[in-house]
Amino acid sequence: MKPIYASITAALLICTSCTHQETMEELTERVFAVAKAQSEQMAAKLDPTTTPRTFDEGRFVTAPVEWWCSGFFPGTLWQIYEYSGDETVRQLAEQETAKVEPVKYTCDHHDVGFQINCSFGHQYRLTDDTLSLNIMRTAAHSLSQGFSSTVGCIKSWPFVKEGFDWVYPVIIDNMMNLELLAVIGNMDNDDQLRSIAVSHADKTMRNHFRDDYTCYHLVDYDPETGAVRKRITVQGLADESAWARGQAWALYGYTMMFEQTGEVRYLHQAQHIADMLVARLPEDGIPYWDFDSPKIPDEYRDASAAAIMASAFISLSQIADNGKSYMEIAEKQIRTLAGPEYLAEVGENGNFILKHSVGSLPDKTEVDTPLSYADYYFLEALLRYRKYTLNL
Ligand code: GLY
Repeated sequence: MKPIYASITAALLICTSCTHQETMEELTERVFAVAKAQSEQMAAKLDPTTTPRTFDEGRFVTAPVEWWCSGFFPGTLWQIYEYSGDETVRQLAEQETAKVEPVKYTCDHHDVGFQINCSFGHQYRLTDDTLSLNIMRTAAHSLSQGFSSTVGCIKSWPFVKEGFDWVYPVIIDNMMNLELLAVIGNMDNDDQLRSIAVSHADKTMRNHFRDDYTCYHLVDYDPETGAVRKRITVQGLADESAWARGQAWALYGYTMMFEQTGEVRYLHQAQHIADMLVARLPEDGIPYWDFDSPKIPDEYRDASAAAIMASAFISLSQIADNGKSYMEIAEKQIRTLAGPEYLAEVGENGNFILKHSVGSLPDKTEVDTPLSYADYYFLEALLRYRKYTLNL
């Protein structure tokens, strides 16, 4: 080797050996700086009745507050406030949260849980504001109205979609809304709310899962007998496939239900789901939108599913025996999401934080676009990681 090449090689080796891997603290600071700048710009684009939905083909798309996602942007702002302590962000969080209040009376749609828990839930947690707590109480009782003791579950949707004929649809996503029931049930010592959450989780555990711990998207029940009519998908590739976000909701839902109830069967269920996911996730931790797509690897990824999973894996890592592997996969997911492929630059991506999620591919809506819940659960994952690793 000529001396000049030898010196270049030596210099490269020295540089490689001193390459600094960004610490998770540094990464978190970098992501929250982007999140704050993006969210402030996004809030300035909204009018008093709208909430952000996505950014598609160069267009910022909003939705009315009745849209199931209306709690996520307020929750994103609250989490930025939690990290930064910035009072301007707090004011924006209060402003965006207030928009969602009318939703608290929704009795026939399970998403009232997401909408109120992810907005007023944070407002109450971070400010101790009793008005927020009362709004959560009203919403929890509204949600409980959708429960049938014959079926043992809350009915997820009051509508039938064209091309389907369900009667009493229960979707796996509904596991997430049990958190509001369990939180208020525990706080108020309300056995009725608690038992609805437990009944729904038990029945879902029995009827939504396959032997390999993947789950169906929708189980339709006969409201007269409580028997299963059919198991199908609406947002996944096929009735028998594993739609990625559905698996993420399941992981998060059973982890949360163990935390809320201490019932060990939920912990076991979460661990089984987690082990299935760890075995099936791609190397970089970001799932394709459906685990069973024959087009993989030429298929869309779903950053929202990765973010939800990361947050759940971190919680599960603190309560499960083999928690180390869950923390490792969560860190991998977070590092990938914080990289240039997924993390937006300030001013782009319609001011959402993450790129490349999939809303509903069968409906051809929100395909490879940003989504407010991807952002919300990504920040939640970062805050949980921080809390557990720094013992905050
Ligand atoms: N809860 C609706 C969805 O996950 O797309």
